[in-house]
Amino acid sequence: MAEVVLKDLVKTYAGNDSRATDEVSLTVADGEFMVLLGPSGCGKTTLLRMVAGLELPDSGQIVIGDRDVTYLEPRRRNLSMVFQSYAVFPNKSVADNIGFGLQVRKLPADEIRRKVEWAADLLQLTPYLDRYPAKLSGGQRQRVAVARAIVMDADVLLMDEPLSNLDALLRLSFRAELKKLVGELGTTTLYVTHDQVEALSLGDRVAVMRDGAIVQCDAPTSVYDDPADTFVGGFLGSPPMNFLTGTVQRAESGRLTVDFGGQSVPLPQALSSYEGKSLTLGVRPEAVAVEGTADGEATLRGSLQVLEPLGSAVLLTTEVCGQPVKVQAPATFRAETATELRLRLPSAQCRWYDPDTGLLLEAR
Ligand SMILES: Nc1ncnc2c1ncn2[C@@H]1O[C@H](COP(=O)(O)OP(=O)(O)O)[C@@H](O)[C@H]1O
Ligand SMILES: [Mg+2]
Repeated sequence: MAEVVLKDLVKTYAGNDSRATDEVSLTVADGEFMVLLGPSGCGKTTLLRMVAGLELPDSGQIVIGDRDVTYLEPRRRNLSMVFQSYAVFPNKSVADNIGFGLQVRKLPADEIRRKVEWAADLLQLTPYLDRYPAKLSGGQRQRVAVARAIVMDADVLLMDEPLSNLDALLRLSFRAELKKLVGELGTTTLYVTHDQVEALSLGDRVAVMRDGAIVQCDAPTSVYDDPADTFVGGFLGSPPMNFLTGTVQRAESGRLTVDFGGQSVPLPQALSSYEGKSLTLGVRPEAVAVEGTADGEATLRGSLQVLEPLGSAVLLTTEVCGQPVKVQAPATFRAETATELRLRLPSAQCRWYDPDTGLLLEAR
């Protein structure tokens, strides 16, 4: 096991104008499960491949444990990797697939057997050890790939979208198993995904990437509850955070409000320097309430445009002063289209963003 430290990693592919990774720095603690999350093309795979040694950075440094491995050959880095395409050998049995790396290392046969049986047991592959991959389901093949990675006793486990080829139900069950397994192994893990739910459910911390840079790196609840900018708030959540832009005004009473065009909500005094300027309110659909009373809470009138029953909840699309606001209401909620709903916004769940930079503002 080991800590992984990435320092200012820059990588530009030949022929590309923009950097695939742009001065990325990240410290993954010993035993930590770190998820790299971001849309397609943001540089996740590039970052992982540099840690693996499959790509070399233009500049920057990679330290694993106490070794600078930036330019070290992949096989000397003592890490193992699971790819999206399971890449199992079709002409080898499950046992030989799992033990492949150990055979390459020329470990004694009985030791290989012991480790293969241990990994097969953990991944529920014991009944299939003599089978060939063609006779396995996609989920079982992916288990073989994970088993092959964990027998290596690597310092670091790298996984690039390992669940994305599985169907939705399998992905869900394997996700929970993977979390348990990696938790028990305690191996430092760097896990790449574009799936926000996967990221939140697996990660000790989630590093959200955009255009080759890490925008925010924090515990899952923190990136979800306190998105550092409108990109993170808009990427996480299904549907994502609502954003409403208005103008900060001072009422006759002296109180600050943000006016969205005929409707307004109170603004924390800490943001008084924005008087006369624009501000963006960020609030998650499940934080907005449509029922009950509104003691001391900001309210807005939203005209109901669409009501979508989702089984466990109802998703409402409303319009407030011409801007869309999504609301997640209780499963039993019903109302006619064009009904004017009273939307309650608990101040503790409202976030304020600078509309120019998109950055979260400290409102306390
Ligand atoms: N081998 C390559 N050659 C040229 N450009 C590449 C190569 N691999 C990735 N890129 C580019 O680098 C950027 C980051 O890609 P990648 O790391 O694969 O992103 P992600 O894994 O987040 O989808 C993208 O713009 C992609 O087109
Ligand atoms: Mg990728």
